[in-house]
Amino acid sequence: MTTSQDQLASRLPADAPPAADAVAADIDAYLREHEEKDLLRLLTCGSVDDGKSTLIGRLLYDTRLVYEDQLAAVRRDSLVHGTTGTDFDPALLTDGLKAEREQGITIDVAYRYFSTRRRTFIVADTPGHEQYTRNMATGASNCDLAVVLIDARHGITVQTRRHSFIVSLLGIRHVVVAVNKMDLVGWSQEVFERIRAEYHDVIARLDFSDVHFIPMSALQGDNVVEPGTHLPWYQGPTLLHHLENVTVITDRNLIDLRFPVQMVVRPNLDFRGFAGTVASGVLRVGDEVMALPSRRLSRVTGIVTFDGPLDHAFPPQAVTVTLADEIDLSRGDMLVHPNNTPRLETEVEAMLVWLGDAPASVGAAFLVKHTTQVVPGVLAEVRYRVDVNTMRRLPAAPDGELPSLGLNDIARIQLRLHRPLMVDPYDRNRQTGAFILIDRVTQATVAAGMIVDRRVTRGARAAGAPVSQHIRREESLVSAAEREALLGQRGGTVWLTGLSGSGKSTVARELERRLMAAGHLCTVLDGDTIRHGLNRDLGFSAADRTENIRRIAEVSRLFNDAGLIVITAFISPYREDRAQARDIVGAERFFEVHVNTPLEVCEARDPKGLYQKARTGAIAQFTGISAPYEAPEAPALVLDTTRLSPADGAAAVQAVLAGLFQGLSESQEEGAAESGRVAPTSATGPGRRPAPAGAAGTGAA
Ligand code: ADX
Repeated sequence: MTTSQDQLASRLPADAPPAADAVAADIDAYLREHEEKDLLRLLTCGSVDDGKSTLIGRLLYDTRLVYEDQLAAVRRDSLVHGTTGTDFDPALLTDGLKAEREQGITIDVAYRYFSTRRRTFIVADTPGHEQYTRNMATGASNCDLAVVLIDARHGITVQTRRHSFIVSLLGIRHVVVAVNKMDLVGWSQEVFERIRAEYHDVIARLDFSDVHFIPMSALQGDNVVEPGTHLPWYQGPTLLHHLENVTVITDRNLIDLRFPVQMVVRPNLDFRGFAGTVASGVLRVGDEVMALPSRRLSRVTGIVTFDGPLDHAFPPQAVTVTLADEIDLSRGDMLVHPNNTPRLETEVEAMLVWLGDAPASVGAAFLVKHTTQVVPGVLAEVRYRVDVNTMRRLPAAPDGELPSLGLNDIARIQLRLHRPLMVDPYDRNRQTGAFILIDRVTQATVAAGMIVDRRVTRGARAAGAPVSQHIRREESLVSAAEREALLGQRGGTVWLTGLSGSGKSTVARELERRLMAAGHLCTVLDGDTIRHGLNRDLGFSAADRTENIRRIAEVSRLFNDAGLIVITAFISPYREDRAQARDIVGAERFFEVHVNTPLEVCEARDPKGLYQKARTGAIAQFTGISAPYEAPEAPALVLDTTRLSPADGAAAVQAVLAGLFQGLSESQEEGAAESGRVAPTSATGPGRRPAPAGAAGTGAA
């Protein structure tokens, strides 16, 4: 726990009402209770006028965790600087610095602590002013949850989008959207719903696991701690209630031991230890450890702290470690477990948030600060920039110009280092996955970077070279023709794409039965099933879906090579991903089928109750609701399931597959391979079933 218990206890005013923890008569019991409570680290972000400070002030005030004397000072100050026209402005509780109070804006990250019966909270209050994105990116990376504030009058702004994007980049997966100043829009539900709908577009491409919307007035107090009386149409929890109860996936990495050495401690000839902060993993006395970059092995003989020896240490404990062997280690080196090492890289790919006032071009040199190391490095490449308005990629530079980065730009870059760094991807390790760039002359921090795992990058994955080197493909001694002769068929992939609940799985199962009945060996790969096994490590972020589809395409290709017909049933919402699947499988044997059921119909069917959950925000990034679905532009077949039974749909697909079993004529085969797809056709009802060449020969029509 970061804050001492005594400190917390002393924050409680003597006459704390029930909303807060009263200092119990039994102080020991009170402290024990605090010790057992869990900690939620949260970040608040919003624009200058969204009312951020007011909100935090309201949280502190309504939970009565403010010093009495501090309160008196605020009352006094409210008369001079307050913006509310009343005698109490909660913002003044949080706008700690005198200078900023006088300016009326918040200019640095400030941490607030407060505590209720259920939880202790650490709030990183970050500035909202456009040029202060810097503080947000640097001060917030340890947070579990972000409160994104929106002024109900203005709705979603560029700033909201930028902050949301950075929150996502920082790996914060839990979001509360606080639609504030509801008092100034007449407590209108319509305004709230409009903002909620608009924000769904913002998050569609971001990596959040849950997003909750709460209408409120921080100034008047509605829905911050107490529900208030003005928002009877809102049935959800208040902000505090939500913060106390939300389940957060803690990202504290206790698996990969990373202990960057801060300094060598040698008080006398008998003692030599290595001081540092455990960045991740657990370090135990007796552990075999490897020193990087030397790769020398040793064993941990002791873990020492100011408070005495420990038998194990975990993040973020600061300790001094002694080893069994005299190995050479200096600042910037790292202790790890020998079977779990970071990558040693002289080139890293990263998402970068540019914070400097002056722009930088490709080729510019910096100091790169990473854990306890500082190494010189060069901005080698800008791959693309991100348009925070649309969340889409922008070219690295306008035509003919050298790519450069300016204030607040967010970009995917490549960094070249003069000495190797020991890195992990940021999404695996927030300590060894992050770095900052420092200007060599002014020593100012000019960028914050998050290292991207090159292996899991959209687009690059399927196309790029494998990560391993010194590998080559082995050719089979069995030809495709031999397999064909044995099975009486040719391998192919029917790729069913469509919304959840569109009927893909049902059509797939019907088709499987029909093909088997007709003597064709086939198998179904289904999203829900595959996500229990092969893809159990994947979620529903855009990147995970891309990886989901890539793996399925690779599996389909292997099955096809073995002569099997594969029927896949995945939403596969992104066009780019399906194009990649086509490339992997091979265009000539890839049949894209759009199971085209309108969203309203899927939602009305809602076979798994998921749409309902998605509507309330219980499931984030739900395709069609809060994540996009890009319909195919030229599928081999479109099935309208509102007019077609699953059996008829399956029959229509089977007809399109005819060529696979009959053997395509030379010209058809070439044509299909060349155009990259078979001729589009559509099946809209039993009466209009298409009959491509050879359809009759499938033996199942
Ligand atoms: S895909 O987008 O990556 O192709 P996939 O087809 O594997 O998705 O899995 C979709 C199934 O997972 C849906 O049918 C539904 O049952 C379930 N599911 C759970 N959460 C989501 C979500 N956020 N979006 C879409 N489907 C989800």
